[in-house]
Amino acid sequence: MPQITVEGEKTFEAVAGTKLVLALEDNGIDVLHRCGGQARCTTCRIEVVEGSVPPMSDSEREALEEPELIAKFRLSCQLRVENDLTIRVAKRAHIEEIGPGPRPQA
Ligand code: FES
Repeated sequence: MPQITVEGEKTFEAVAGTKLVLALEDNGIDVLHRCGGQARCTTCRIEVVEGSVPPMSDSEREALEEPELIAKFRLSCQLRVENDLTIRVAKRAHIEEIGPGPRPQA
């Protein structure tokens, strides 16, 4: 199984094909996600530090919108775990002081 490392925090395994946002949440990382995984809110964004991810879809690119965000971030609700990854989570629920929205579909 692929290993996901959240830089400076923990490493865990995730079943290949799992949405990254769900793998994070199910392993105790309180990644913020507000729109139910619809590629609208961009609160679930992460930085890929190491590892390969598929190309960005049009909907992900449209959601991130600004070139500097597109260059730096991916939406964890739009990524499925396929390989080992090291990431940074941009927005955490306990820091933003708002709870997550509906759980994205698997
Ligand atoms: S863009 Fe809203 S949860 Fe990913």
